[in-house]
Amino acid sequence: MKITIIGSGYVGLTTGACFAEVGHHVVCVDNDARKVESLIAGQIPIYEPGLESLVKKNVASRRLSFTTSTEEGVNHGEVLFIAVPTPPQPDGSVDLSFIEKVAREIAQYLDSYRVIVDKSTVPVKTGERVTQTIRRYAKPGVEFDVVSNPEFLREGSAVEDLMKPDRIVIGGNSDRALAIMQKAYEPFVAPVLVTDINSAELIKHAANSFLALKISYINAISEICEATGADVQKVADGIGMDKRIGRSFLSAGLGYGGSCFPKDIAAFIAISEQLGVPFNLLKEVQSINQRQIDRFVALIREALWVLKEKKLAVWGLSFKPNTDDVRSSVAISLVEQLAEEGADVLAFDPKGMEKAKQLPIASKIRFADSALEAATGAEALIIATEWPEFAAVDLAALRDVMRTPLIFDGRNLIDPVAAANFGFQYRGIGRGILSERP
Ligand code: UGA
Repeated sequence: MKITIIGSGYVGLTTGACFAEVGHHVVCVDNDARKVESLIAGQIPIYEPGLESLVKKNVASRRLSFTTSTEEGVNHGEVLFIAVPTPPQPDGSVDLSFIEKVAREIAQYLDSYRVIVDKSTVPVKTGERVTQTIRRYAKPGVEFDVVSNPEFLREGSAVEDLMKPDRIVIGGNSDRALAIMQKAYEPFVAPVLVTDINSAELIKHAANSFLALKISYINAISEICEATGADVQKVADGIGMDKRIGRSFLSAGLGYGGSCFPKDIAAFIAISEQLGVPFNLLKEVQSINQRQIDRFVALIREALWVLKEKKLAVWGLSFKPNTDDVRSSVAISLVEQLAEEGADVLAFDPKGMEKAKQLPIASKIRFADSALEAATGAEALIIATEWPEFAAVDLAALRDVMRTPLIFDGRNLIDPVAAANFGFQYRGIGRGILSERP
């Protein structure tokens, strides 16, 4: 089947590569000529496990190609996926100008029936606007259908999430379009949920905000644990063993970040307000998330008294492990606050260094080549991202290189008892038992 993806960012590129991998002929369109050039040369602009080899393999087998021409894309694909950015505006609502522009461009080149699929995360009722726009700008009488097909991939496991999804949601009002979508997804073994367009669009925002709610819920519990001496990890295990609740997304820490949750929660709040049904619960989710980082900085300040000129090692800059993405990373916000107070920050991240070095904060901190180098001579170690290699650190070697053995573990990666046994003073999140130097 011939498929076109318009927008070769995180979602578009991974979706295109996976559709090619299952045998479809995919053209990915992007208006960034330099990006298209490097993709043709097999260079992937993001770190995503398994993606580079998938792209190379499918480019070589001529099932995947890249172009800057929307016209070529519209002519090629029976199905046209829109996967362009939907960035936030200052009031939290979504900027839909890229979607609107692509809808006009598609309309301009539309000559025969196409299924136009919205894959970008959009507010409910966007499909209706895309339909109106295409109808307005297309040649009279040309046939098309608009479908919503939200994406649920996570950065760091995007290829796996796409190849083996929990579910595929297809929202549409036309049997013709739904049949074509079912065919496109036939090679993927996953339950397909067919809905109307508005429900499909809502599913995406409702899913992301529910996951953020779970994180803020356990983070709120972590505060109660700190006040009582209980251990949030044990509480999360205890409630997570209830199948109705589940253990995933119950890891307390510095809170959620990234290019999706903060933006989507703000958007969902804005949408609900525009609809006249304010979703106030989500405002509390946001404020708990902000409080986690504020409380953590207060904890560091309380222990170190003055942050100015303190040599602090920070492990982790990406918004989560297995990605180089530092957009809306809590680790970056944390480093910004520490630098603002005059701390001498030496940071390390296994994959996120290059992208962090392009941020304004780069001029105010220093970067190390390894985790241990960052910790050498440090008066405290701060763990900001849950990379597995940080969890596997040799605590004896770490203690030997640090000036003072103090760990602030913002992701509960280190075992507090082991840390205490190696002579560390340890502070985690929601772990009431404070490990002190024996
Ligand atoms: C999220 C969703 O999980 C995907 O299903 C969705 O497709 C994607 O957004 C999107 O809308 O495109 P992603 O942003 O890649 O995926 O990352 P997550 O794995 O969901 O993590 C988000 C944040 O929550 C990270 O900062 C992570 O550290 C934090 N988190 C996650 C916690 O603090 N605790 C947890 O228990 C889990």
